[in-house]
Amino acid sequence: MLKKLRLRQKFTILLLVVLVLGMTLSGLTLSTVLKQNAKEQIASQALTLMDTISSVRDYTVLYITPELQDKLKTKFLPQTVAAFSATTVFEILRKKPEYHSLFYKEAALNPTNLRDKADSFETEIIERFLQKKELKNLSGFRSFPGNEVFYIARPLVVSQPSCLQCHSSPEVAPKTMIEQYGKDNGFGWHLNDIVAAQIVYVPASTIIQKAHQSSALIVGLVSLVFIIAISVINLFLNNQIIRPLKKITRVAEEVSTGHLDVEFEQLSEDEIGHLAKAFKRMKFSLEMAIKKLKNSVDKKPVIELECRSF
Ligand code: HEC
Repeated sequence: MLKKLRLRQKFTILLLVVLVLGMTLSGLTLSTVLKQNAKEQIASQALTLMDTISSVRDYTVLYITPELQDKLKTKFLPQTVAAFSATTVFEILRKKPEYHSLFYKEAALNPTNLRDKADSFETEIIERFLQKKELKNLSGFRSFPGNEVFYIARPLVVSQPSCLQCHSSPEVAPKTMIEQYGKDNGFGWHLNDIVAAQIVYVPASTIIQKAHQSSALIVGLVSLVFIIAISVINLFLNNQIIRPLKKITRVAEEVSTGHLDVEFEQLSEDEIGHLAKAFKRMKFSLEMAIKKLKNSVDKKPVIELECRSF
């Protein structure tokens, strides 16, 4: 089938095949790389937030709780509780519009504050931490209606005996706390138990969408460059090869039918020019040969007669 096609068509098909293959391959690679970069960017943002909020937790446990121990007898201050301070600091952060879509939760199976109750997805995460004690981090994507988020989760362990002051049993817990939180939730915990998972949610859709947009833009630009290249090559092919070749063919056809008044024009110094030059020489030789033949025929009419009788 290729044999039937013209030179220009063959070139265009070849370049289009290269374009399609090149674009598919580079487009796929590009979108994978950009998506990966976007994921890493989201993950590092989530990790920074997680470390920051964990530090707020540690700060409360180390510096605030011990200082306000005595006050607990008369008035329960949730501000002295690490979970409260971490959640509140995050809520304050979320008030800024640029952080509004971030979310932090200390999801627990048996929480003191029912707001912290793990949903089914978070329960699965906690269960995985319980099954594999050496697991220190879990991350991935989670879909909410109309939004995809990246999450990073860490197990929350009852690391100190002081935690049991408020989380072992209602009898031991400060009365002031029971008055506020009741005695049904957040008790029965033991030292070194994994009781909850700290989870940071970071919106992913916009960043991944941006990665898609960037790869589409780059693929579009490269395609445009390719299309311009195909057009320029086509134009060059037409002007430098096809048109001169057609001209040579036309002149050769004329010469072959006996019209020797036409001339092969050498327009360039390249291979096509050399071809025209060679044809020009050939035509000249042909003319000479015909002239010679004519001369000899004029001198020996007998031979001509003999020739004609053949
Ligand atoms: C003075 C009492 C007290 C101490 C000590 C305490 N907690 Fe709590 N804890 C609470 C209260 C009250 C809440 C609910 C806070 C809120 O309303 O946000 C809570 C919440 C939590 C939560 C969030 C889930 C939930 O139950 O709502 C976790 C996890 C938690 N505590 C773990 C610990 C750990 C680990 C320690 C030890 C480092 C500890 N707590 C020490 C009183 C305490």
